[in-house]
Amino acid sequence: MPKERTFVMIKPDGVARKLVGECIKRLEQRGFKLVAIKMQVLTRAKAEEHYIEHKGKDFYESLINFIISGPTIQMVWEGEEAVSQIRAMVGSTNPLEASPGTIRGDFALITQKNVIHASDSIQSAEREIALYFLPEEIVEYSVGDDKWMTSM
Ligand SMILES: Nc1ncnc2c1ncn2[C@@H]1O[C@H](COP(=O)(O)OP(=O)(O)OP(=O)(O)O)[C@@H](O)[C@H]1O
Ligand SMILES: [Mg+2]
Repeated sequence: MPKERTFVMIKPDGVARKLVGECIKRLEQRGFKLVAIKMQVLTRAKAEEHYIEHKGKDFYESLINFIISGPTIQMVWEGEEAVSQIRAMVGSTNPLEASPGTIRGDFALITQKNVIHASDSIQSAEREIALYFLPEEIVEYSVGDDKWMTSM
């Protein structure tokens, strides 16, 4: 069975505050495997497509303006229950409600400037991965710790 994959994006505040390495370190040391990565300033069209579910909400315009305000990092991560486990590691949307030990709970205070995005379901992950990556940009490879991070 193919390993579960999720989409993770480090937002402009996370890049500007040099939290890219910290976020990657946490996901790596948990045992997840990075299988795709790129950096870009999102176009307005791309950002609107990403956050289409929030179109019409009072924070939507502000969210889009923020997410296109600077460079962001796009990644695909793979591993056991990657979607739900990485959401848990990211923490609650409002960092003031995020548990200590989560990325938002450790590094953020403001809902809009909450450092990182992670897909909220397997369906969202599939949609978001396809939005940012061509299939050939996702790399299949083995690493030494695969043995310890799968139930095989
Ligand atoms: N009430 C709000 N006020 C301001 N910004 C908000 C509000 N709710 C959500 N946002 C912003 O919109 C983003 C998307 O909201 P969503 O409900 O999808 O939260 P999330 O899934 O935790 O975050 P993300 O989708 O960015 O991972 C949030 O991360 C936050 O930046
Ligand atoms: Mg979301």
